[in-house]
Amino acid sequence: MLVLGLESSCDDCSAAVVEETPAGPVLRSLVRESQDAIHGPFGGVVPELAAREHLLQARAVMAGALAQAGIGLADLDRIAVTQGPGLVGSLLATFSASKAVAWRQHIPWVGVHHLLGHLNAARFVAPDLPFPALVLLVSGGHTHLYLAKDWTSLQLLQKTRDDAAGEAFDKTARMLNLGYPGGPLVDACAQTALKGAERFTPPKFRDGKASWSFSGLKTGVKLRIERNPRLAEAGPADPEVQALCLALQEAIATWLLKPVPEWAESQGAQSLVISGGVACNSRLRTDAATLAARIGLVLAIPEPRLCTDNGAMIAAAGALLEPEVNPWSQNADADLKLGA
Ligand code: KG4
Ligand code: ZN
Repeated sequence: MLVLGLESSCDDCSAAVVEETPAGPVLRSLVRESQDAIHGPFGGVVPELAAREHLLQARAVMAGALAQAGIGLADLDRIAVTQGPGLVGSLLATFSASKAVAWRQHIPWVGVHHLLGHLNAARFVAPDLPFPALVLLVSGGHTHLYLAKDWTSLQLLQKTRDDAAGEAFDKTARMLNLGYPGGPLVDACAQTALKGAERFTPPKFRDGKASWSFSGLKTGVKLRIERNPRLAEAGPADPEVQALCLALQEAIATWLLKPVPEWAESQGAQSLVISGGVACNSRLRTDAATLAARIGLVLAIPEPRLCTDNGAMIAAAGALLEPEVNPWSQNADADLKLGA
């Protein structure tokens, strides 16, 4: 089965062709148009600009994915598109375009929850993943831990009490004037550090649980820069900036993984999936490998280009869902709930 997957929930416009085989999904093509240059000067995504760009990019990414796979619309067995959650103007670009193409060509169509997409990105590396799985979804908007009993279900176990982990990376990069998006820049800078700065103190919660909170981390970085204003202008080649990035990255990776052993035990989990943009982080990936080996979990982290938002993960999830009987009544939903 050949599936065209489309994703435009935030600031990446992406399309991919995935062949669903008995052995799992095979990536036939992947096209992604970045809008980093457009949003960079603002230090974050500007929804109106994102929506306008998606309108301009949607057709080209679809055509590009088909061309790269060496197929035409007539070869497609299904179209899968992100239905939500996300920025509604952004979502609508590929959502509406996909419905129009599906209607014109009589192609079965299915809307996909964005987070189910991130989970299914792991099918490319671990098609035979043992379940139940703990699923850590970490991006610019999400820091959520789920339990999955299969590839199409996610049950929330815990989430951040305030900021997402990706936001901590992005805000830090902004305060250090490293650029946008912050995660990859902080990661690269941390990897050049010879030693880390003073450790960030983990948040403590009254109920004693290993919850998540990342807003204090942002304040922590701000205070260190206030104490040492030079850091804001010093740039990524500066050893103190590198040390600060390393300390931040270490804190985020350590804190994110802290609740995993307890949940794995209580839920009888066999495996751990980490996906979403922050799953590209080098420190999180190595720390997760060490932890999974220690507590006996099978670890599945997609390759970096499949961790960030992409059409392939939507195609992989869409291949496992039933196509909509009446796609034309469907609408994009900025707050789409899981299981809706
Ligand atoms: O999943 P994603 O592409 O979009 C959202 O749904 O948010 O995630 C984007 C986030 C951004 O916050 C970005 O800074 C972060 O993922 N990110 C990283 C890395 N690469 C991307 N964070 C840490 N380390 C990285 N290497
Ligand atoms: Zn995402």
